[in-house]
Amino acid sequence: MYEALTPVSEMLSRNLDTLCHQPLLVCGLLEDNLPGLLAEHGPAPRVFTTDFRYFQWLSPRSGVNTEFGAVPANEPAAGLLLLMPKAKAEAEYLLAACLPLLPPGAPVFMAGDNKGGVKAAPKLLAPYCEQVNKLDSARRASLYQAELSRPVPPLVAADWVRRYPLAEERLTICTLPGVFSADHLDAGTRLLLNNADGLHGRVLDFGCGAGVIGASLLKRNPGIELEQIDINALALEASRLTLAENGLQAKVYASDGLSQVQGRFDCIISNPPFHAGLKTFYSTTETLLTQAKDYLKPGGCLLLVANAFLPYPELIEQRFGQCQTLASNGRFKIYRAQA
Ligand SMILES: C[S@@+](CC[C@H](N)C(=O)[O-])C[C@H]1O[C@@H](n2cnc3c(N)ncnc32)[C@H](O)[C@@H]1O
Repeated sequence: MYEALTPVSEMLSRNLDTLCHQPLLVCGLLEDNLPGLLAEHGPAPRVFTTDFRYFQWLSPRSGVNTEFGAVPANEPAAGLLLLMPKAKAEAEYLLAACLPLLPPGAPVFMAGDNKGGVKAAPKLLAPYCEQVNKLDSARRASLYQAELSRPVPPLVAADWVRRYPLAEERLTICTLPGVFSADHLDAGTRLLLNNADGLHGRVLDFGCGAGVIGASLLKRNPGIELEQIDINALALEASRLTLAENGLQAKVYASDGLSQVQGRFDCIISNPPFHAGLKTFYSTTETLLTQAKDYLKPGGCLLLVANAFLPYPELIEQRFGQCQTLASNGRFKIYRAQA
C-alpha cells in the first residue's frame, strides 16, 4: 500500500546528505517508506503521525520510532521535516506542535507536491525562522529549508480548538485543524441526522470526525451505548472534546475501517469518507459496506449518507439483500439496510 516512493520522496532522495545530517522528527502527509529511506542513509528518524493506518503500517518496521496521536511526545528533537498536509491549517498546527521540541538553530525542512500547498512554506515558517530557502524542486515537488530562530513555547492545545453551535440539537461542536467540516455542519450529515430517529442499544459512529453524529444521537437517545471511531488522531481528539463540552460519554478510539472494532452493534451510522480521485477513500467505504453485516446484531441496521451518484445501493443490496432509500435531496441520499 505504501511500498512505492511518492514523487515528493523521490525528490527528497536527491537530498539525503542534507536531510540525514541529524535525526529528524518527521510528520505530515506520509504515504510511503520515506522514514526507512532516511534510516538507511543516516540516523534513524522519529515519526509522528496523526494517521492510524500509516502508524499501523510503519510501526512494525524496524529502525524507526513511530508515534500516533494528536501531539508528539515531549522528547527533544534535532530537526524537523514536515511533509505538507492537505489542509494549510493542519500544517500550522503541526509546526506549532513540533517546533517546541527543537533547539534554536535546528534545521526545519518542509516538502510537498507543488499543487498541495507547499509553496506556502515561506509564509508558514515566517513566525519561526528568519530566512527560508528553496533547496530543491523536481517531479512537481519542492523542498524548503530554514533554521529555527528562537525557542518556541509549548503548544497550548486549547488555542487550536474551534467551536460552532448546533442550534437544533443544542450542542457545541469542537473541531481541530484538518478535521472534516471544521466550522459548520455538513449538509449530508444534517440529512442523515434528520433521518436517524429511534436508535437504541449499541451504536457505532463510523468515521466520527468532530463527533457530531454521535453527540447528536446521545443527546436525543441518552440510553444508547455509543462508540466513535476514526482513522485520524485530530478527529478523535475533537470528538472527545465535543463529548466533554456537552457532558456526554462514549468510547472513542482509533480504527482503520472496522479493524479495531469488537462485537456486534444495533446500528452502524456514518457519513463515510469520500474524496473524488483518491482511490483509498472509495475503498474504505466499499470495505465498510462489505463488512458491516458481520458487525451488526440480527435486525441491526446500517444507516448512511452518500453523494447521490455513488453506486453504493448495489453494493449494499449484494451484501444485505435489500437497501432502502430513506431520503434524497438531489445531492445526497440516505440508505438503510437491515441485517
Ligand atoms: C465525511 S467525514 C465525516 C465526519 C463526521 N462523521 C461528520 O459527519 O461530520 C469522514 C470521516 O471518516 C474518517 N476516515 C477516513 N478513512 C477512514 C478509515 N479508513 N477508517 C475510519 N475512519 C476513516 C475521516 O478521517 C473523516 O473524519
